[in-house]
Amino acid sequence: MSHTMLQLNGMHVKFEPGQSILDVATNSGIEIPTLCYLKEAAPTGACRMCMVEVAGARSLVAACSTPAAEGMEIWTDSERVHRARKLNIELLLASGEHDCLVCEANGNCRLQDLAYKYGIIQVRFPRSFHPHQKEEENPFIIRDFSRCILCGRCVQACNEVMVNRAISYGYRGSHSKIVAGTDQSYFDSDCVFCGQCVQVCPVGALVERKSRYRGRTWELKKVRTTCPYCGVGCQLWLHVNDEGRIAKVTAVEDGAPNKGRLCVKGRFAYDFIYSEDRLTTPLIKEGEGFREASWDEALDLVATKFTEIKEKYGPDAIAGVSCARSINEDSYQMQKLFRSVIGTNNIDHCART
Ligand code: FES
Repeated sequence: MSHTMLQLNGMHVKFEPGQSILDVATNSGIEIPTLCYLKEAAPTGACRMCMVEVAGARSLVAACSTPAAEGMEIWTDSERVHRARKLNIELLLASGEHDCLVCEANGNCRLQDLAYKYGIIQVRFPRSFHPHQKEEENPFIIRDFSRCILCGRCVQACNEVMVNRAISYGYRGSHSKIVAGTDQSYFDSDCVFCGQCVQVCPVGALVERKSRYRGRTWELKKVRTTCPYCGVGCQLWLHVNDEGRIAKVTAVEDGAPNKGRLCVKGRFAYDFIYSEDRLTTPLIKEGEGFREASWDEALDLVATKFTEIKEKYGPDAIAGVSCARSINEDSYQMQKLFRSVIGTNNIDHCART
């Protein structure tokens, strides 16, 4: 046997040093359920959902945080593993208000999926009391602590992925809570409302305020697009309801350049597309006001004015500022227009720093 071989459910499997049992299983096409595991962050082993059996180990081990080792014999789907996972799911279901019918995450909830997969028909434990008030004070994110399973994905997303360091674990035992700052509201804390915590929450503890009542998960169609703000070109999913309106925006996981991340504008600031004030036609200034014009008329007027200014004051009397939302090709054409046609180097970009 090679020194990088182990046994997974009876199969001989190769692995690279440094890989976890979860990595090896995923590469071998074997699914191990996870709740707290977040790909871009260090594994915490907090939820114990990924437990597997390893020959010679006294207890089950967490696949996400246990390194694969030479000669290991691992079972991911044994009777013992199933019993432990079912118990774990029951304890999580008993730990709060997991009432799927009225939960915004219904249909997009990892805990719900696991309860279904493992056939949890009844929870044997009494539901525990949750002491923390729901937070609905900010315009973007609702924090419902009664649905929180303390998996810590939001903390990792905030600290390790976005490096905003606005939230952490607080209190102890049954009073445990994910806290912002010194247990402030998001609004009063260092939170920048990037919403990454919402994107990684596997249950309905963190939901987008605006997306509520705009459509259930299974009613929304996902449309991929590029963020309309700065020139980074982040990849987005628009979740569009059957009226053609955006219910929410999420980042495309694994897609360059943002790899699942978004800023506050990309995630939440899309309402401008429905604004009544949007310009739908060129406007020409006349006296104190503006009148609507065709594109031909407006462009002819701009060309005439540029020619007049250039003849009277020279090409350097004209300057151009290109738009950060433009694609590269449009920006290239803009500088060509200014340098080659107008004859000035007065050309810049509004997002240059
Ligand atoms: Fe491994 Fe949570 S996914 S402990």
